[in-house]
Amino acid sequence: MQPTPAADNDPLFEAINVSKSFGVFKALRDVSFRVDDGEFVSVVGPNGAGKTTLVNVVSGLLRPTIGEVRFMGRDIAGIGPVELARLGMSRAFQLVNIFPALTVRETLAVAVASRLRRIGNPFRSLRRDDVLQADVERVAEVLGLRARLDAVASALSQGEKKLLDIASAFALNPSVILLDEPTSGVSSGDKHAIMEVLVTAARAAGVRAIVQVEHDMDLVERYSHRIVALQEGTVLADMVPAAFFRDPAMISAVIGTRPKTLGGMH
Ligand SMILES: Nc1ncnc2c1ncn2[C@@H]1O[C@H](COP(=O)(O)OP(=O)(O)O)[C@@H](O)[C@H]1O
Ligand SMILES: [Mg+2]
Repeated sequence: MQPTPAADNDPLFEAINVSKSFGVFKALRDVSFRVDDGEFVSVVGPNGAGKTTLVNVVSGLLRPTIGEVRFMGRDIAGIGPVELARLGMSRAFQLVNIFPALTVRETLAVAVASRLRRIGNPFRSLRRDDVLQADVERVAEVLGLRARLDAVASALSQGEKKLLDIASAFALNPSVILLDEPTSGVSSGDKHAIMEVLVTAARAAGVRAIVQVEHDMDLVERYSHRIVALQEGTVLADMVPAAFFRDPAMISAVIGTRPKTLGGMH
């Protein structure tokens, strides 16, 4: 993906002056950001900064208390992930959201079936559905899971579980994909492998933008076109990686006193 210059283009999606309160607590305060065609945007910030809340709001899972969320020109505030996926935005979750007893094939079949509006079919008929099965195999192929199609999810390595979670989001054929810590809980070697698979798959699938929450600053620096840093629910910075990593105050605000990574935080 190559970012399109922001000038005069409509954003693919944007949050406009979004605040989100939980009771009296303000998790997001007046947050605005946009994502343009071709962009890979990383959302960073310390634990509790509001990153997951922001992803939940821009993916229509949570309705903002104040403000607007627009996707391809439509107001999508609170429309919910199923409807939003139909419009072309899908997400993977921070906690791997897979059923341990289902195989990779079955897990992806459920996601593809939902896209093809074959919800309600029992697994037996999904298994006989050639169009659906061809699509399951295509998605497994791009995410490097083809050899694991008949493995049950609980038998997958942590890295493979992450890929399955990402594959489920890809199965919805999204134009935008949101990932909350796609590499959390895997070794640093596996993190790079997952990111490479993700970026290659996104390119192959025609995904127009990726937004990820990520703590590993090596990955953030390497893959992002732009970094949105949150601190206590506000946007501390929205800049290109070169500017971000040149600013020691910025880095320490985001990663505290720890060197380079925020491993273990969420
Ligand atoms: N459903 C909720 N109810 C109450 N407080 C919440 C809820 N979700 C998140 N919060 C609070 O909002 C703040 C931001 O949370 P979150 O967005 O998960 O942060 P991050 O992902 O950056 O670690 C935290 O203080 C968290 O406790
Ligand atoms: Mg989080």
